[in-house]
Order: sequence, then structure tokens, then C-alpha cells
Amino acid sequence: MAYETILVETRGKVGLITLNRPNALNALNSQVLAELLAAVEGFEKDGTIGAIVLTGSEKAFAAGADIKEMQSQSYVDMYLGDFFSGWEAFTRTRKPIIAAVAGYALGGGCELAMMCDFIIAADTAKFGQPEITLGVMPGMGGSQRLTRFVGKSKAMDMCLTGRMMDAAEAERAGLVSRVVPAGEVVEEALKAATKIAGFSLPSVIMNKEAVNRSYETTLAEGLRFERRLFHSMFALEDQKEGMTAFVEKRAANFQNR
Ligand code: CAA
Repeated sequence: MAYETILVETRGKVGLITLNRPNALNALNSQVLAELLAAVEGFEKDGTIGAIVLTGSEKAFAAGADIKEMQSQSYVDMYLGDFFSGWEAFTRTRKPIIAAVAGYALGGGCELAMMCDFIIAADTAKFGQPEITLGVMPGMGGSQRLTRFVGKSKAMDMCLTGRMMDAAEAERAGLVSRVVPAGEVVEEALKAATKIAGFSLPSVIMNKEAVNRSYETTLAEGLRFERRLFHSMFALEDQKEGMTAFVEKRAANFQNR
């Protein structure tokens, strides 16, 4: 597929997707969604890829859903089209996705970063849910995911005032996992993704699945789910290899089996 709104590359065992609508600060329209889903699906099926990095430009990860695309839509258009529901497919990706965020991550941009598995931010990053300034509210998960990331008080502040959070505040609040100097964010994310891609893929996917389950269920059910997955890992050749390598004081050579 020839992409017009994203750039898709591989760096070793890592798939790198760059949002590329510079004239619209990477605003997320239907074409971006379709292309992003196709690229991610390609990496999901590609046995040589172990992790994915999603980034934007230095100025903007993404400045939101495309306001010009939504501006004249009616309620019926939005409801019957179940607008934004297509993004749920992105969240079903099994391989880890790291968001490398520089500049603006606003509205749908912040929501897309939160759909990834973790966020590495440049010190220039600015996060916000400014939908209220447009007379609406978040529609791609902001009111739900941001609240789970940073708690009710800060999420309420962000959604009701529309103010932006800088990278330092985002790190303090637990929205991002690390902040790195501008210009290094993609390299840092690629380094982390390369490390992940060197581990056993089944174990990577089970780790991701278990952490994600903690958002969906009670502690007791989550612990049970974790334990059952942990037990199942003893059917993996990579479990034998990982533990044997430790005992033999050598590096593990995972076969992804
Ligand atoms: N949708 C469509 N176009 C957008 C856009 C968006 N979300 N954000 C920026 N653009 C476009 C601008 O219209 C402009 O295009 P033109 O040159 O054709 O006029 C171009 O990108 C550059 O933007 P600015 O001139 O505004 O750049 P700036 O540096 O002066 O300001 C900004 C940067 C503060 C990020 C500003 O662009 C801005 O406020 N953008 C909108 C942010 C926003 O409200 N996001 C939420 C969208 S709604 C949403 O996301 C709903 C949801 O929950 C999913």
C-alpha cells in the first residue's frame, strides 16, 4: 500500500511509523486512521518485527482529530458512522507500540499517544485535551484513559480548562514513562523498542496483555489472569532458554517459540 499521510520504515526488528501531514500538524483524519491501521497490521503479520514506534514531527506528534473533517458533520453522520470507533482496532495491536512524542499531542493526538503502550516524551512535548475550546469533549478516549493515567483531579483540570501539560508535568503525573532531550526522542524510543524486540515475542505479548488487563478488571481477577499466563509460559521453549541461560551465565538466545 502506498501511504500518503504516514511514513513507514523498519529499523532492524522495529517498525517505525511517522505521522506525516506537516501542513495540518499531523491532524488525524480518516485517511491517517486507515493508513495507520494498515501499517500496524503489516507489522503485526511480519515475523521479523518485534515492536513498533509511532512518532510525529518535532513540532507536533498530532494536534488532534481533524477539525476540518468534523466541522460540518451532523449528529446522524457521527452516530451512524460511529465516528472514532475505528481507533479501537489500533488498541487491539498485540505487539508493543511506543509513542515517541515531541511537540503538540493534543486532543486525538494525546488520545492516540495514550492508546500506545507507553509514551517517551521529548522535553518539548505538550499534552492536552482542548476539545472544550471547540465546544465538544474528547471522543477518542481522553476522558477515560487520561483519568486512569493521571487521576481525576488532573484529568478534570485538563478536560475542563483545555490547558496543556508540559513534559515535566506529564512525567510527574505518570502520563509518560520518561522525558528525553528534544532531538533524541525517536532514537530513545527505537532503543527501547529494539530491546523489547530482542526478548521472546510470546513473553512480550503476554506481559503487555497482563498489564492491559489491570485496567479492565478487579485486582483478584487480574492476579489470577497473571498467574495463569505465568504458568502457561512454562510451555515455551524460550522459558527454558531464558532460565538455562541465566544459570549458565550466558546471554539468552530466544527463538520466539
Ligand atoms: N485539525 C485540522 N487542522 C489542524 C489541526 C486540527 N486538529 N490542528 C492544526 N491544524 C492546521 C491549522 O488549521 C493550520 O492549517 P492552515 O495553515 O491551513 O490554516 C495548520 O495546521 C497549522 O496550525 P496553526 O497555524 O494553528 O499552528 P500554530 O503553531 O499557530 O498552533 C496549535 C498550533 C496550538 C496546535 C493549533 O494548531 C491548535 O490549537 N490546533 C488545534 C488543537 C485542537 O483543538 N485539537 C483537538 C481537536 S478535536 C479532537 O481531537 C477530538 C477528539 O477527542 C478526538
